[in-house]
Amino acid sequence: MIDIVIANFKMNQTPEETKNYLMTFLSRFDEKVDLTLCLPYTSLSTGEYLCRGKAVRLGSQNISEDEEGRTTGEISGRMLKASGVDFCLVGHSERRKKFKEDSKIVNKKIKSALKNGLGVILCVGESLAEHNTLKTYEVLREQIENALKGLYENELERIIIAYEPIWAIGTGETPMAKEITMAVKEIRKVIADDFSPAAADNIKVVYGGSIDSKNVKQFTSCKNLNGLLIGGACLDPNSLLKIISLL
Ligand code: PGA
Repeated sequence: MIDIVIANFKMNQTPEETKNYLMTFLSRFDEKVDLTLCLPYTSLSTGEYLCRGKAVRLGSQNISEDEEGRTTGEISGRMLKASGVDFCLVGHSERRKKFKEDSKIVNKKIKSALKNGLGVILCVGESLAEHNTLKTYEVLREQIENALKGLYENELERIIIAYEPIWAIGTGETPMAKEITMAVKEIRKVIADDFSPAAADNIKVVYGGSIDSKNVKQFTSCKNLNGLLIGGACLDPNSLLKIISLL
């Protein structure tokens, strides 16, 4: 059942634009889903102010693996927590590719997030070449096992796994519902193997990649899926409201 919606604003919106966005969005949001808005860092204080008292969580799009000090340009878990952030995205493919964030770094970021009381949205997914050579499950297993290395089972309660095939992000292409269902099953199998069958049943898994109001219905048919991660289609408040209304 789909009841989690995560909106990834990526590198879009000034604080003023976020303010205008939220004024429109919040006046019509019916709070029927568990919603996290992953705003740019510079819009977090605007988001924190306008979402106060509303059933909307704030998310960040990244977190430093370091705790504090000599890491110019980075933002720590403690800073995020103090800014009203509940969840941080970790391991998004754009960061894995452009900033060379490998599984070891992703693992450190997750540990730092948990240590600072933040939840984590762990993004995993295969490239087109890996998809075409039937390596999807192998890639998912490698990414999840290394990202979650050293975690206690009870810490999984604060982790959401986002299945985001790289070839589906921002392309208009999406896997078939059956393919998503199979990938989510595989993700839960990795959790069952490394933690326990109960942890596999309980972990939240969402899908992300080219979701919009026209295709959203195809994802609601994936029975083992808990939610959606929306990029481009969240940038217009009416489009995000429309998607939520169709769930
Ligand atoms: P998209 O992005 O919805 O624009 O494909 C999803 C994401 O990158 O999280």
